[in-house]
Amino acid sequence: MIDYFRRHLGAKLLLSYLAIVVVGVAVLIIASQFILPTSFNRHMSGMMGNGMGMGNQGFGNSDSMSQLYVDFRASFNEALTYAALAAMIVAIALSLFFSRSVIAPVRAMSQATQRIADGRYDERVRVNGSDELAQLALYFNQMAEKLNQIESMRRRLIGDVSHELRTPLTAIKGSMEGLMDGVLPATHETYQQIHAEADRLNRLVDDLQELSRVEAHAYQLDIYPVDVSSLARTVTKRLAPQADAKHITLNLELPPDLPYVLADEDRATQVLTNLVGNGLQYTPEGGRITIAAKQVGNEVQIAVRDTGIGIPTEHQPHIFDRFYRVDKSRSRQSGGGSGIGLTIAHALIEAHGGHIWVESIGNEKGSVFTFTLPIAI
Ligand SMILES: Nc1ncnc2c1ncn2[C@@H]1O[C@H](COP(=O)(O)OP(=O)(O)O)[C@@H](O)[C@H]1O
Ligand SMILES: [Mg+2]
Repeated sequence: MIDYFRRHLGAKLLLSYLAIVVVGVAVLIIASQFILPTSFNRHMSGMMGNGMGMGNQGFGNSDSMSQLYVDFRASFNEALTYAALAAMIVAIALSLFFSRSVIAPVRAMSQATQRIADGRYDERVRVNGSDELAQLALYFNQMAEKLNQIESMRRRLIGDVSHELRTPLTAIKGSMEGLMDGVLPATHETYQQIHAEADRLNRLVDDLQELSRVEAHAYQLDIYPVDVSSLARTVTKRLAPQADAKHITLNLELPPDLPYVLADEDRATQVLTNLVGNGLQYTPEGGRITIAAKQVGNEVQIAVRDTGIGIPTEHQPHIFDRFYRVDKSRSRQSGGGSGIGLTIAHALIEAHGGHIWVESIGNEKGSVFTFTLPIAI
């Protein structure tokens, strides 16, 4: 029995309500028993003193007086007993009702929690009113929504990753089978193709590892004042061989009074390399890529402009999504990546407190990728 009360909030609430009622009734009874004799005497003497014509005769002698008191007290106690009983019954009914109304939402929530734990993430509870319990229900629903999103993201991610892994694996397997059956010639070219696919797999795994690190914030930003100009020059130098090979001109537009920015130099270099690398990838021979920087308010905007194929407007909202590629077959042929590069760049820039966006009108008219970093004061 005690255990039952210990384990049920409803029972505890009911018990506390009942305790209040019992104490109230007890105080009522005890107090009235104390007050009754003096009150009786006061009222009776008042009645006799105001000249109702009875004087002391009959009524005034102490025997009949105490008899009257005994009768009065008996009838008073009888009335008090019935009144207390009635009050108790009404109070019990009311406390049952109130403890139920408090317990019902708590119980609903604990059932919903159970169902969510069983993997049913679409579970929600009803929000009634605006008290603390309603707040709790609201937060509960928000948490369930978040879990639902994470779960569907996880599912999609696994689907995407297996799809991405399968493509190069199928190619490698196909080539190997062709070689074994003698359908494919054992030439240098065949081996190179297989090697290229293995390389793709390798890069994909590297990208995935980097993505998971970045998205889980499992890295430390080493924030220092960084010179954007020297950063841009480093990236240009690093990518010059690739640009030369494709006959693409790399340009710098850097004002001399550019302030330093607060950034992790390695990460900022990574982002810029990524953007220029994309530019090189999606710009035909003879094109031009420009890195331009300028101060806007208390930020520096760093833009990478290319004269490449551009990105059609309808693709732009998704360009920073994982595995998103405008043209999957083109991206594959041109040795493109898996559509993770921009996702990583986005996550890194946001971690710096900056923004990254794209402008392009598509149609082979080039694209501009711009990101911001806070200036160092
Ligand atoms: N400079 C650019 N010009 C045209 N398209 C681009 C450019 N940069 C990125 N894209 C498009 O955005 C997609 C995603 O880019 P990214 O995340 O770097 O992936 P990828 O690994 O394919 O380069 C690319 O597949 C490409 O379709
Ligand atoms: Mg890329």
